[in-house]
Order: sequence, then C-alpha cells, then structure tokens
Amino acid sequence: MMLEARGIEVSYGEFLALKGVSFTVREGELVTIIGANGAGKTTILRAVMGLVKCSRGEILFRGKEITRMVPHKRALLGISLVPEGRRIFPDLTVDENLMMGCYSVQGGAKAGMQEAYDLFPVLQQRQHQVGKTLSGGEQQMLAIARALMARPQMILMDEVSLGLMPIHVQATFKVIKNLHQKGVTILLVEQNARKALAAADRGYVLETGEIVMSDTSESLSADPLVKKAYLGGA
Ligand SMILES: Nc1ncnc2c1ncn2[C@@H]1O[C@H](COP(=O)(O)OP(=O)(O)OP(=O)(O)O)[C@@H](O)[C@H]1O
Ligand SMILES: [Mg+2]
Repeated sequence: MMLEARGIEVSYGEFLALKGVSFTVREGELVTIIGANGAGKTTILRAVMGLVKCSRGEILFRGKEITRMVPHKRALLGISLVPEGRRIFPDLTVDENLMMGCYSVQGGAKAGMQEAYDLFPVLQQRQHQVGKTLSGGEQQMLAIARALMARPQMILMDEVSLGLMPIHVQATFKVIKNLHQKGVTILLVEQNARKALAAADRGYVLETGEIVMSDTSESLSADPLVKKAYLGGA
C-alpha cells in the first residue's frame, strides 16, 4: 500500500472538517476523491502533506506512520502536492519555477527539466517568460511540472482542471493519464467528477467530511445517486 488514511479527523477551530476519513491508494493507482464545495477535499490533501494537523487517526506511507511528520520530510519521502489555484512563483521565469521544485533532488535538475519540457513542450517555448505572464492553462502546466521536478513517488492533485478552458482541461487530463501510465501513483481531488472518474481506477465520494461511497470508477459512474448529485443527472 502506498498511502493509507485511517479514520483521520481534522478541525479548523471548533469546526470538524474531516470526521474520521479512511481511504487507501495502492502503488501505481490513480484514485480520485470527488465531492462538492466545502466537502473537505483540499483538507484531505493538506493532511496527507502535513499542512494541517490530524486530531485523530493515522496516515501511513508505504506502511510507515507519518501522521506527525513535518511537510518537508514527507516531500523527501516522495510525496508532492499540486495545490489548489495553480500556485506558481509569479515573478520567477518558467525555468526558475521548475528549479524551485527540485530542491530535494541532487543533480537531477537538468534531467528533470528536460522531462518536464518533453511533457509540456509549450513550457519550453516560454522558459524565459515570468510566471505571471503565462496563460491560465500554461500556469497549471507549470504547477504540475514543478511538482514533478521532485520526482515524486506519489502526487497529490487539487482541482487541477478548475477554471481552465475546455481545451486545457482535456490537455491536463491527458497529462494525468500519461503520468498514470508511466506508473506514478496519483491521488486526484476534483469537482469535475465526470472527468475524474473517467481517468481514475477507483474513487471515493466525500460529503461534509465523511466518505459515503467507495468503488471502482466504473461502478461509481453508473450509480444513480452519484449520477444525480455529481454527474449532472445524466
Ligand atoms: N483555514 C480554515 N479555517 C476555517 N475553516 C476552514 C479552513 N479551511 C477550510 N475550512 C472549512 O473546511 C471545510 C472543508 O474545506 P476544504 O477546503 O477542504 O473543502 P473542499 O472540498 O476542498 O472545497 P472546494 O471544492 O471548494 O475546494 C469547508 O467548510 C471550509 O469552509
Ligand atoms: Mg478544495
């Protein structure tokens, strides 16, 4: 098992955002957690990365408990997060943004950068341009490429297609499937349930801090309740 959460609880002040959430991600799997605004999707990823504290439960990475480990140590173990909202360094160039992603890898910068440019050729054309002048889609590609620079064993992706034009949504999901085929383990949280389930092996449905369903993507996509609530009733 690559990642396992066992009954994790996370609170923001008095508010219990995760009420005992359990899930697993096996090596090489692409797993998605779908849920509405405010369900707790981002909180799950932040808990896995160590950016919020779990008041109960445990998180295991490759069978080892990491529940109280600091974020940068988790990064060194091979966990990488693509945060919500395409966070990049706006005043650094594309090249420099990528360099920032590989602080933990010795000597791997050149090779990693070439891989990133192979994956996203458009970024190579823009390598000397500063982040804030990139289009939304390009910024998202850069955010993903930067997370990959650390050569993660597991990548956590938070709403990577949100706010993108359909053509960039397609491109982003193509990259996700491509990474999956290469054997990268992926945990994807998404409001775009249709796309997420189409790409993923398995999925979980999160409602107000609780997992209410868990199944293969196929079964979830065919479920009447999932269809009604998350797939536009189709
Ligand atoms: N720093 C915070 N302080 C207080 N409440 C918070 C904080 N961060 C998140 N919350 C609350 O916790 C709940 C879960 O938030 P979270 O961001 O995990 O949801 P989400 O599923 O990612 O939503 P979205 O789809 O809108 O990104 C929400 O009700 C949110 O208002
Ligand atoms: Mg979120």
